[in-house]
Amino acid sequence: MTASTSPVVLITGAANGIGRATALELARKNVPLGLLDVDVPNLESLGDELRKLGARFSIQIGDVCQRESLREAIAAVETAVGPIDVLVACAGFGRLTLVPDLALDTLRKTFDVNLFGVAESIEAVLPGMIARGRGHLVGVASLAGYRGFPWMISYSASKAALIAYLEALRPGLARRGVTITTVCPGFVRTAMSTGIPYKRKIDMLEPEVAAKHLARAVLRRPRNCVFPFSMRIGLAVLKVTPDFLFDWMMRKAGPEALSVDF
Ligand SMILES: NC(=O)c1ccc[n+]([C@@H]2O[C@H](COP(=O)([O-])OP(=O)(O)OC[C@H]3O[C@@H](n4cnc5c(N)ncnc54)[C@H](OP(=O)(O)O)[C@@H]3O)[C@@H](O)[C@H]2O)c1
Repeated sequence: MTASTSPVVLITGAANGIGRATALELARKNVPLGLLDVDVPNLESLGDELRKLGARFSIQIGDVCQRESLREAIAAVETAVGPIDVLVACAGFGRLTLVPDLALDTLRKTFDVNLFGVAESIEAVLPGMIARGRGHLVGVASLAGYRGFPWMISYSASKAALIAYLEALRPGLARRGVTITTVCPGFVRTAMSTGIPYKRKIDMLEPEVAAKHLARAVLRRPRNCVFPFSMRIGLAVLKVTPDFLFDWMMRKAGPEALSVDF
């Protein structure tokens, strides 16, 4: 913790969706914030909302894939609000990827943001956390990382890699006082999820509800934060489903779920 009673929280991907709602939720709890994103207009509008709440924050343009500018942005946040106690790595990229339009460039871009962007963000804040002997890394993965879903091939792969990366980091960092929380949301109504051509209406959480889960995770530091509860159960079952059965289910489920062919 810093001199103030509340930890300083850095959120990447803060301009939109889950990151934005989490910033607003934490601001209402008087948490000092560092906020990074590449979407400048929406970062500015977030700044306007936070000023109305009387929040303590620093907003910086920051691309999690650009090491030098990311580190400069984080240094500027630390100068403004203090050393970062908690990183919420929320910046993400997700598109429908199907066999007919497989493209390595999409796979690379997805891994760049969802895996390497999180790793870059972690590496930028970690030396300070280790030196202070405390810190908390919150990585936003996805339930889509539990198994490979055939309509989000690149996305599923990147989130599975992120889940394993965070798990592998956990023991070594715990010995150095740094905790890791892996967040796996189900469907949340944001620009990322609303573009997927599902045939029927999908129940989605509002970003504000997801933000309450994330804010709780920031304050309580659980190992995992998986929501909503219904999907937690469903995915837990899917995780232990025998491979032959999972493959069969996906062959059936894909055409039933989507209005495009995979
Ligand atoms: N929505 C869901 O159903 C869902 C479910 C599970 C997990 N998640 C995960 O939750 C996180 C937030 O997603 P969301 O649904 O809130 O999506 P979102 O509304 O698209 O917000 C993601 C934010 O990250 C920003 N961003 C993208 N690339 C960046 C980069 N290189 N550097 C900095 N910022 C970058 C985006 O900017 P631009 O808009 O300019 O690209 C956007 O502001 C993601 O990691 C996502 O994978 C979402």
